[in-house]
Amino acid sequence: MGCSRSLILFINLAITSNLVALIIAQDDDASCTERADYCWKCTDGATYTPGDMYQVNLKSLLSSFSSNTQNNYGFYNSSMGKHPNNVNGIALCRGDLSQDLCQACLNTSIGRVLQTCSTQKEAIFWAERCMVRYSYNLIYGIEKQYPVKYVPGAEFLDNPQPFQPVLDYLLHNLSDRAASSLKKFAAGHATVPGAETIYALVQCTPDIDKKNCSNCLKESILEIERCCGGKKGGRVLKPSCSFRYEINSFFLPTANSLVDIPASDPAPAPKEEKKKSNIKQIVITIVVVLVAFVTILSSICIFLRLTKRRVKLDEDENSKEINLVESLQYDFETIRSATDDFSDANKLGRGGFGAVYKGRLLNGQPIAVKRLSKYSEQGDREFKNEVMLLAQLQHRNLVRLLGFCLKTDERLLIYEYVPNTSLDHFIFDTNNHEHLDWETRYKIIGGIARGILYLHEDSRVRIIHRDLKTSNILLDEDMNPKIADFGMARLFAIDQTQGDTRTVRGT
Ligand SMILES: *[C@@H]1O[C@H](CO)[C@@H](O)[C@H](O)[C@H]1NC(C)=O
Ligand SMILES: *[C@@H]1O[C@H](CO)[C@@H](O)[C@H](O)[C@H]1NC(C)=O
Ligand SMILES: *[C@@H]1O[C@H](CO)[C@@H](O)[C@H](O)[C@H]1NC(C)=O
Ligand SMILES: *[C@@H]1O[C@H](CO)[C@@H](O)[C@H](O)[C@H]1NC(C)=O
Repeated sequence: MGCSRSLILFINLAITSNLVALIIAQDDDASCTERADYCWKCTDGATYTPGDMYQVNLKSLLSSFSSNTQNNYGFYNSSMGKHPNNVNGIALCRGDLSQDLCQACLNTSIGRVLQTCSTQKEAIFWAERCMVRYSYNLIYGIEKQYPVKYVPGAEFLDNPQPFQPVLDYLLHNLSDRAASSLKKFAAGHATVPGAETIYALVQCTPDIDKKNCSNCLKESILEIERCCGGKKGGRVLKPSCSFRYEINSFFLPTANSLVDIPASDPAPAPKEEKKKSNIKQIVITIVVVLVAFVTILSSICIFLRLTKRRVKLDEDENSKEINLVESLQYDFETIRSATDDFSDANKLGRGGFGAVYKGRLLNGQPIAVKRLSKYSEQGDREFKNEVMLLAQLQHRNLVRLLGFCLKTDERLLIYEYVPNTSLDHFIFDTNNHEHLDWETRYKIIGGIARGILYLHEDSRVRIIHRDLKTSNILLDEDMNPKIADFGMARLFAIDQTQGDTRTVRGT
């Protein structure tokens, strides 16, 4: 293996392990007592000092929760104080609890959270039976999935194979029920054939709507492997939702419900009710015959079509490629008028390979045009081939290459337009900096890693970016990252497959 190649490998490894470390840090963001009867996260950042107005407001807000005895399904929501000392709070008891048990849990939890997070203005505290959360920001009605805490049980399952699908089905069934209910809560049990009975409880804070609740729970269920894979019990705790499962009942029987697991292969029909089942049999026979007939007919149709198409495909192999190049090639005049003759007003910036302009096609589609500087050695034919390859790379974390344009000494690349500029504008700008909360950062990091993984491993051609930096990470309107400028080395005919280049390149 040559020098530059092993260097690239090393750099990639370093980046990957850093990302993994960051992701793990996110999982373990919150802390728990040794027996995990309490978990909490005091948000770093804004703090108050003992005796100030914020503390006064906070205490009176929380004590209003633990003394409020009106029937509110165990959910409390309130605000206290005026800016800049206003506090917003939410408290929620497990859905099966009586008023008394709820009050008792809130009373101890509130005492503990005030002790544990004694200066932070924002905190969340999960007890086994209730949750308390407060912030100087608005929190009511907003779905929030961070910080997250995974609390796996201590014991391992003997046989996790049949356990997981039953658990999955049970949790999804409960989540659907919880999301559509007023209390946003459901509990129940299901039995693994010939083995354990699983008890589970899912809950959202009732201030978020059905869609947000369902989303929060579904995403949490996807994290079950990371949390508690192979364990006899576990909890995933988030601000807006949580679930727990055990192999013993841990909630009040009044909340319990049975969830039937549909058998994967149909059980043999019972032998009673002969008359009914005779009629049934006749109906079933007719249906089966009909279905078989339709299936055979459509199979023949599909078969005929496919063979036709295959013959056609072979014929068209060449013309298809030409068509693709044609569909990617834009007329120079079109692009010139789309960018207002490459006016300075439309200039978005200047990268290593040339200036970038914003433009708008006649159909209204916004585009970004990279006007390549003129020192590429590559011939037109090779250039077209490379563009064709790059245009076929499609991934939500890559900036999409829409096409190209060739005109004597001009070479243009046409990309989708990504509205939110690049990551460096957010990270290094003191004003924008604030918009980049940890949830967004986490999303951006994950997106970049997925994009790079695609380029390295999953795409048709392996691409090493060689210039990955914050100004090459563009952000769409939802702050999803998209990697730009990948494959430029290919377009400039810089060799990247051979390991014997002596110079180290890249960022
Ligand atoms: C908890 O309950 C006790 C006794 O009723 C009361 O004195 C105390 O103030 C309560 N604590 C909170 C935080 O409300
Ligand atoms: C919850 O608190 C927020 C903030 O004070 C308020 O806007 C909202 O109306 C409250 N909702 C309920 C149901 O009490
Ligand atoms: C809640 O769901 C809506 C769509 O139903 C979505 O647009 C919104 O982003 C969600 N809210 C949060 C804070 O995630
Ligand atoms: C959940 O399971 C119950 C009992 O098996 C079933 O009646 C119900 O339709 C299921 N609900 C959903 C939303 O899947």
